[in-house]
Amino acid sequence: MAHRIAVIPGDGIGKEVMPEGVRTLEAAAKCFNIELEFEYFDFASCDYFIEHGQMLPDDWFETLKGFDAIFYGAVGWPETVPDHISLWGSLLQFRRRFDQYVNLRPCRLLPGIKSPLADRQPGDIDFYVVRENTEGEYSSVGGKMFEGTEREVVIQETVMTRHGTDRVLKYAFDLAQSRPRRKLTSATKSNGIAITMPWWDERVAAMGQHYPEVTVDQFHIDILTAHFVMHPDWFDVVVASNLFGDILSDLGPACTGTIGVAPSANINPEGTFPSLFEPVHGSAPDIAGRGVANPIGQIWSGAMLLEHLGHQEAANAIVAAFEAVLAACDNSVLTPDIGGQGTTEILGRAIARAISDGR
Ligand code: NAD
Ligand code: IPM
Ligand code: MN
Repeated sequence: MAHRIAVIPGDGIGKEVMPEGVRTLEAAAKCFNIELEFEYFDFASCDYFIEHGQMLPDDWFETLKGFDAIFYGAVGWPETVPDHISLWGSLLQFRRRFDQYVNLRPCRLLPGIKSPLADRQPGDIDFYVVRENTEGEYSSVGGKMFEGTEREVVIQETVMTRHGTDRVLKYAFDLAQSRPRRKLTSATKSNGIAITMPWWDERVAAMGQHYPEVTVDQFHIDILTAHFVMHPDWFDVVVASNLFGDILSDLGPACTGTIGVAPSANINPEGTFPSLFEPVHGSAPDIAGRGVANPIGQIWSGAMLLEHLGHQEAANAIVAAFEAVLAACDNSVLTPDIGGQGTTEILGRAIARAISDGR
């Protein structure tokens, strides 16, 4: 039976990288006899907001909930719609209402891409950030008082629940257990954020009891960011709260040369709701419209989508294809962020061809 995929390109370079994501998914599906059915939606974009006054139609939940997966580009166009309106009105609703509580973000130095860190080779940087994705610092609890006066107060509470924390920790420990190094690093800040973060540390320690084979360490987020730059080879699985995970999952890929290649899977592990696959990057207004965005973040997210749907071989073929294209170091094919003069489409087509040739 065909897998039904909801495709939401969004804004800016989301609309430019999405065709390459779909192109490569189609190439892999053809090679591995997988039936994919794509349905496109124009909502969850700032253009939709301008036309309708809201980011999503009222029935979005019903519309999307029956899909097997959501393939998302990027959203945000701050020139016309403030970011907190566009993001809270779209992506953050998807994550929360579809209970996509794991945000899995691989970070790997790929062949042919130069790390900005001296002397780092592929193999030296290869870890996952597992980000809590539905609560924590991204909460709607809070408000403003005495607005517009000298006594103005703004409050936004961090909300961590035992259920919400333990389930993402379990996912992270399971992942660490499945990897050869069996190492898990927790991002904390229990020295300064003295209620939620010491409690987070306790939950990590409690979950660790069930995983005697996993080596656990923890760092305060400030020094952890420094270690990402100084010692990226230390890390295997890094588990973090929503905000810390957000920051680490831009910094990690930056250490691998560009955030343009970084993928993410917003996963509802129980499969009650569709999971959502999107690049880590945003709509990049500074380069949008020029056709030069790196499509690999979108393409790799497509590979994660296939893996999630049970098609490991096809997912591997996509990854092998972009690795082969990158390793060939043809500057006429690579996008400018990785030193080339190619375009989004040229690179996307080269990867699609490599998928077909690989079979
Ligand atoms: P951004 O990720 O859009 O861009 C940051 C920098 O990285 C820019 O210089 C951009 O040109 C570059 N970059 C990003 N993706 C690239 C790619 N594929 N190839 C080459 N270069 C790339 O982050 P930002 O500028 O902070 O945000 C822009 C908008 O996107 C905002 O509205 C923001 O809220 C939104 N945003 C959305 C998502 C999402 O949809 N998941 C993620 C992050 C930011
Ligand atoms: C990401 C993005 C989003 C986040 C923004 C756009 C709300 O930065 O997916 O990493 O903070 O989660
Ligand atoms: Mn982010």
